[in-house]
Amino acid sequence: MTDRYAVMGNPIEHSKSPEIHRMFAEQTGQAIAYERMRVPLEGFEPAVRAFFASGGKGLNITVPFKEQAWVLVDRRAPRAERAGAVNTLLAEAGRLVGDNTDGTGLVRDLTVNHGAALQGRRVLVIGAGGAVRGVLPALLPEAPGEVVIANRTVARAEALVELFADQGRLSAVGFDRLQGPFDVVINGTSAGLAGELPPLPDDLLAPGATCYDMVYGDQPTPFMRWARAHGAAMAVDGLGMLVEQAAESFLIWRGVRPETAPVIAALRPE
Ligand code: ATR
Repeated sequence: MTDRYAVMGNPIEHSKSPEIHRMFAEQTGQAIAYERMRVPLEGFEPAVRAFFASGGKGLNITVPFKEQAWVLVDRRAPRAERAGAVNTLLAEAGRLVGDNTDGTGLVRDLTVNHGAALQGRRVLVIGAGGAVRGVLPALLPEAPGEVVIANRTVARAEALVELFADQGRLSAVGFDRLQGPFDVVINGTSAGLAGELPPLPDDLLAPGATCYDMVYGDQPTPFMRWARAHGAAMAVDGLGMLVEQAAESFLIWRGVRPETAPVIAALRPE
């Protein structure tokens, strides 16, 4: 029987994961089935148990269930532990294992696909929600010189700094105290999805700065437009991160790392 995989979320209709994994499977010659599963908000755990009980091999987990998945698993990969969220599930000898490939996906897209250096750089992360927490375990080992976390609610940024304090030079700040210049700025807020932009000072970017928005859309995001208007050498959205996190999940499940460039190109609107 064909090995079965799925992505669980709510909503899930717009998920590109089935398309991405279909392309990975085709490219690597693996026979898998991968479907979208819309799970009721109160029904996450039974849905996961039923999926694996019926022979399912692996799940991706997306909004709003990543934290619940973290709680549910029997064992967590080290990079998932501090992320506080799990986006990849597999069963190993009857036990549920959780991993988080989001941070690795972001770092690979930034450094491999876009050639941005992180080591020694002054990095600003905007936002302090679940998405940001999820990527810090992968970002901090890249040894940036300094990471500043800016958030509308400063207390949330401070909580993240406390959580990751042993991982590097980290500080928290509100938008009113934000002081550039930064070499790399990563927007991890959901503001852009509502067409909004956090209040950023005009002199935030260092010459040649890289700006990365973790969300993506058919059009450049408000943060990307801001970045281009304020001197960024590169302003990119999170489509590559989406494909890279999927590739990392595929690697965990299938033991092969698919090529991401053709998949990113295929998904990129003309
Ligand atoms: P996610 O899983 O996407 O991280 P979240 O945990 O709700 O979701 O976090 C959303 C993030 O986007 C937070 O950093 C939030 O700021 P607050 O912690 O102050 O709420 C940020 N955010 C959302 N809308 C925003 C806006 N219009 N301006 C600035 N920040 C915004």
